[in-house]
Amino acid sequence: MQTREIVVSGIRPTGFLHLGNYFGAIRQYLHMQQTYECYFFVADYHSLTTHQNPHELRNHVYRVLAEYLACGLDPEQATIYVQSDMPEKAELYLLLNMLAYKGELEKVPTFKEKIRGKKEGINAGLLTYPVLMAADILIHRATKVPVGKDQEPHLEMARNLASRFNQKFGFLFPEPTAYSETGTLLKVPSLDGKGKMSKSENEMATIYLADSDDIIRKKLARAKTDAGPQTPHSPKSPEIENLFLLLKLVSAPETLAYFEQAYDNCTIRYGELKQQLADDIISLIAPIRERAAALQKDIHTLQKIRKQGAEKACASARQTLLQARALMGIQYD
Ligand code: TYM
Repeated sequence: MQTREIVVSGIRPTGFLHLGNYFGAIRQYLHMQQTYECYFFVADYHSLTTHQNPHELRNHVYRVLAEYLACGLDPEQATIYVQSDMPEKAELYLLLNMLAYKGELEKVPTFKEKIRGKKEGINAGLLTYPVLMAADILIHRATKVPVGKDQEPHLEMARNLASRFNQKFGFLFPEPTAYSETGTLLKVPSLDGKGKMSKSENEMATIYLADSDDIIRKKLARAKTDAGPQTPHSPKSPEIENLFLLLKLVSAPETLAYFEQAYDNCTIRYGELKQQLADDIISLIAPIRERAAALQKDIHTLQKIRKQGAEKACASARQTLLQARALMGIQYD
């Protein structure tokens, strides 16, 4: 039997999922689950590097699970599980930590960003975040990792750790790459023209999968624009570029072409563009929001899916961990 390529990806339960998570990650999961052997998980350990609220964690974890399913992830096709349900991963993380250097971890851009301006409270989990992420991927010996642009440095670290392990102890891990079906890793911009959509920052500039139709319209109405093009074929300002990028993601090609043309011949009305964008985003999000809300009320089904997923995922992980231990000489029987 032909073995299928292995795919791994995860999302932290640190807040409501948004359009960046959807287009950067989940939409690709939906396509990949049909073709590859997929493992998609909720990265609860990773969330503890920055968010430590024991009273909220359970809700956040089940919400991400519900949102995964509501978007169309299918537990019959993909293995869907929660990171902390797999002890093998924590052990591989420990082993990989022996191969990770402090200097290289300190240079990882996401670490530098997270500690900017902080003198205290920088935990070791934050520093070794990419090592845990490498363990997530390598435990399944995955080759493709569907993620957004921001995760690229983490994938580089995972490749370094895989190749270091292979060289030192013998081949075990294929080198994984960040994957996007278009060939370009995506960064979904925020609506204020600054940075990207994100779970915990600039709420009014981020569209969440749980947003009501009304809120979506309000957020788009507030999105930044400019004075409009004064001469035909003018270049677009960053905020207008962002609105067009969203249009490209959610709207029909004819709609995009219509607004591109209107922009080029200076007849564009930003109000009309925003309204169209709001309509198209609502068509995408409203059914997901409703399915996710219903699923969150059905905790038994979510629990069952979580447990079944963990069983399947751990069976694959156990094999890899035993081989890693053996190659490192941890074999005393
Ligand atoms: P997280 O939880 O921050 O984001 C989950 C996924 O969504 C993508 N994403 C975006 N893509 C495009 N535009 C945006 N504005 C945007 N915001 C978020 C992220 O790139 C990611 O794919 N470290 C990971 C979680 C993780 C993981 C893993 C991923 C833990 N272990 C192993 C892959 C494989 C993270 O923080 O994602």
